[in-house]
Amino acid sequence: MADPTSRAGERYARPEVLAYVERVHAAHDQALDRAFRAHELHDVPAIQVGASEGKTLEILLRLAQARKVVEIGTLAGYSALWMARALPADGRLWTLEVDPKHAEIAKQNLAAEARVEVVLGDALESLAALENEGPFCAVFVDADKERYDQYGRWALRNLRKGGLLVGDNAYLFGSLTEDSDRARAMRAFHEEARDAFDSVCVPTPDGLVVAIKR
Ligand code: SAH
Ligand code: DHB
Ligand code: MG
Repeated sequence: MADPTSRAGERYARPEVLAYVERVHAAHDQALDRAFRAHELHDVPAIQVGASEGKTLEILLRLAQARKVVEIGTLAGYSALWMARALPADGRLWTLEVDPKHAEIAKQNLAAEARVEVVLGDALESLAALENEGPFCAVFVDADKERYDQYGRWALRNLRKGGLLVGDNAYLFGSLTEDSDRARAMRAFHEEARDAFDSVCVPTPDGLVVAIKR
């Protein structure tokens, strides 16, 4: 395989540079801060998106004029809070979470967001029940990595034309090209996004697929 053409992250994204640009473009208010620091207050993992990815989600949803949005994988509601800020007054975000503790914390962190609904349960079941609310304007995938292929196919069936598919952890923590079921599922997510969408993998720390449904 050819060498990648971009090594900018490797060479220039020094910690002090990243801290500066996050301060400038993706500063936290109190609500974002509380959700981002959920792992300090509760027994939950610190695996939310970074501030710049969160702001990227907000900007993308605004560009797409997204009104109905689905998030797969809520955790403490940090990325959901960013996306909620992009919604118009009549917009809605359904965010799906299988862990009751995570869902409960997210509900607290999202209590002021009337347009956001935390849906407790396994995402594949919740998605099936949500289909009648579609078609959707955007789907953000950030849950169990072994099922990204299935989540991508659900998005293809349930997004409007021009709708956005976004997927975090698209490098699969560096293991994307390995020989495992999880890596194969993630590669299927990438390749199906290429085939049915106009797609890119934005080089965030762990890769962010952004795709527009054709
Ligand atoms: N999007 C969040 C982070 C999500 S972390 C943020 O950036 O703030 C991944 C979450 O997906 C975890 O809370 C995990 O419990 C949840 N998850 C894992 N498998 C799931 C499934 N099958 N259905 C729904 N949620 C799931
Ligand atoms: C994990 C999950 C994520 O969505 C992420 O962005 C980082 C880590 C994890 O399950 O470890
Ligand atoms: Mg993630």
